[in-house]
Amino acid sequence: MNQPKRYLVTSALPYANGLKHIGHLAGAYIPADIYVRYLKAQQRDVVFVCGSDEHGTAIPIQAMKEGTTAQAIIDKYHPIIEQNFKDLGIEFDIYHRTSSPLHHETAQEFFTNLNNAGALEIKETEQYFDEATNTFLADRFIKGTCPNCNYDSAFGDQCEKCGKSLSPEELFNPVSTLSGNSPIKKATKHWYLPLNKHEDFLKEWVLTEHKNDWRANVVGQVKSWVDGGLQPRAVTRDLDWGVKVPLTVDGQQSTVDGKVLYVWFDAPIGYISATKQWALNNNKDWKPYWYDKDTSLVHFIGKDNIVFHAIIFPVMLKLNGNILPSNVPSNEFMNLEGDKMSTSRGWSIEMDDYINHWIKPENGGGQMADALRYYLTAIAPETKDSEFTWKGFHQSYKSELSDILGNFVNRSFVLMHKLCAGKVPFFHNDIIDDDDKQLIQEIHQTKITVENLLEEFKFREALFNVIDLARKGNQYLQKKEPWKKPLTVDGQQLTENQKLVDNCIHLSLQLTANLAILINPFLPFTAKKMLGMMKVVDKMLEWQNAGSVTLLKAGYSLRAPEILFRKIEEEEISKQVEKLKKKSTVNSQQSTEKQNKTKLENEKQESRNNIKSTIEFDDFAKIDLRIGTIIQAEKVEKADKLLKLEVDLGFETRTIVSGIAMHYKPEEIIGKQVTVVCNLAPRKMRGIESNGMILMAEDKSGKLHFINSSEMIDSGSGVS
Ligand code: 2FM
Ligand code: ZN
Repeated sequence: MNQPKRYLVTSALPYANGLKHIGHLAGAYIPADIYVRYLKAQQRDVVFVCGSDEHGTAIPIQAMKEGTTAQAIIDKYHPIIEQNFKDLGIEFDIYHRTSSPLHHETAQEFFTNLNNAGALEIKETEQYFDEATNTFLADRFIKGTCPNCNYDSAFGDQCEKCGKSLSPEELFNPVSTLSGNSPIKKATKHWYLPLNKHEDFLKEWVLTEHKNDWRANVVGQVKSWVDGGLQPRAVTRDLDWGVKVPLTVDGQQSTVDGKVLYVWFDAPIGYISATKQWALNNNKDWKPYWYDKDTSLVHFIGKDNIVFHAIIFPVMLKLNGNILPSNVPSNEFMNLEGDKMSTSRGWSIEMDDYINHWIKPENGGGQMADALRYYLTAIAPETKDSEFTWKGFHQSYKSELSDILGNFVNRSFVLMHKLCAGKVPFFHNDIIDDDDKQLIQEIHQTKITVENLLEEFKFREALFNVIDLARKGNQYLQKKEPWKKPLTVDGQQLTENQKLVDNCIHLSLQLTANLAILINPFLPFTAKKMLGMMKVVDKMLEWQNAGSVTLLKAGYSLRAPEILFRKIEEEEISKQVEKLKKKSTVNSQQSTEKQNKTKLENEKQESRNNIKSTIEFDDFAKIDLRIGTIIQAEKVEKADKLLKLEVDLGFETRTIVSGIAMHYKPEEIIGKQVTVVCNLAPRKMRGIESNGMILMAEDKSGKLHFINSSEMIDSGSGVS
């Protein structure tokens, strides 16, 4: 394939509804940043866009949890997440917001284009509705049991446990997340994107054209959707929070009351509005990035975003006349210490938490951002789920970053200062040997290999090749042992030995310069530090320089080495594991408390719902209530629940049959006072005429209790 003229790289827009964890980072952000840094080092024309996804039900739900407004939520989380990315070296060209007027305009224009072209359908359907809050229940406003994995808190748009994309109708036992009530069905009108009409296009474009160059998990998900039969998908919602649905009435632009664009319709358009804002900020033209076929559009996403980026958004782009993505690299899931990562369960490491501990200057600063970038790339779930463990993090840090890369760079510098007067020594071609030649060849070859792997989105393998080159550097030094070569005898220079040492150190330093270039996309803070040690400018990091062994001029004096990766003690790591466990325990306690509270609220609501319809006072006054005393009680034959009571009402004794036999034995209740409805029409029960009814209280478990005061009251007294 010809090299594209320009690139537009996107990372999934995170919801600005809370802190993001390292699983997110590993999926859509670190690989994208590596790719972009590589392209930029290649001097290619590339724009890297991202920003906050600020619509959808996720935002108002978080606002309810925090007792604030949706606007306050996005204003709180947008800057935190943006700063977190910066601290971890993720360098977007723009970090935009979907709440911006430019985005609203762009999304509305996109919708209008499709609607005017007749590409959308309008349908009236019955949808879940919460009567208590007067709200249609879409997406995260409705919860229920997942039909795929039985998880009992799956959202109406997606099950967070198994990742399946859902619609509210598919949930079992649906309840409103707003009130906890069971919803009713109510008719409403929406715009639909008829995906079914684009099946042939998707079959041709993804399942044929990109069958081999896209990752198998992406092609696989598209195939399973297509095989399952594509359905029209609603692209509007009955909500207040979001981009208002635009409408042209008599040539005038207006909006539809109470309806907004579905968040998954407007969010990917956020990539376009971000590009527009970037162009405005930089005095550039945004259009070629979205319309010119010579542009390579690459979406980096997490696994649960595949259908939106490989099916729905491409259909929208095609209908709007835009280019289609050339790739949609998506990882599988990254688990944490043996369990699925989940912010709500507290089983996660938030970027913010990592930064607050590790990236403090006294704890390592940028080198620890690189340590995380390194481990997340080394264990990236590119083809299957993987697992983050603090032990693994420590292990890879020690044995790869510190012992291989850090150690090689450090040794080369220390030896240069010790054996070559702190300067890059000359390379003496006349004594070049096979080991030198082989190292030169490895440097050259690694550049090509890493480049090919990065072009194919194989970041793990690319990284391992860079580390492997550093490993070869260590082996080279080990074999040459320049520290064992005496350079003088009795004050006399040993020229031959000096030449051998010079060549070894010269090549080691050239290799160090190469490592800085090759590691830069992965570990930008480390590359920068290495530049500082070599006293060279950023320009040296241009990719075309890699593979060369003439990057550092002979005679050039270099700085003292800096420790690239500090020592991390076991204790610091075990504290992180403890912290994680503690956080999850606190979360689960909080979640139990929350569940109890919700249960109580639901019970209260049920009690309220069960209140019988209002009666007039005159109706109540018709009931004649008197105090009676039970003077005799016996079981009714062949009726487990019934007792036959003789109740003294003062003015007479009545026979009353009561359903309390499961709760009280006859002998327990003799002498008890009860309130009696004494003007109830007589009723025959098991052949016995019952003349009245006694009042008892029934608790939540169904147990009956006497309600009369312990004070003795004259039998026959009236109750009102
Ligand atoms: O899953 C998510 O977090 C979404 N906010 C991703 C949106 S990606 C794009 F379409 F904007
Ligand atoms: Zn599920």
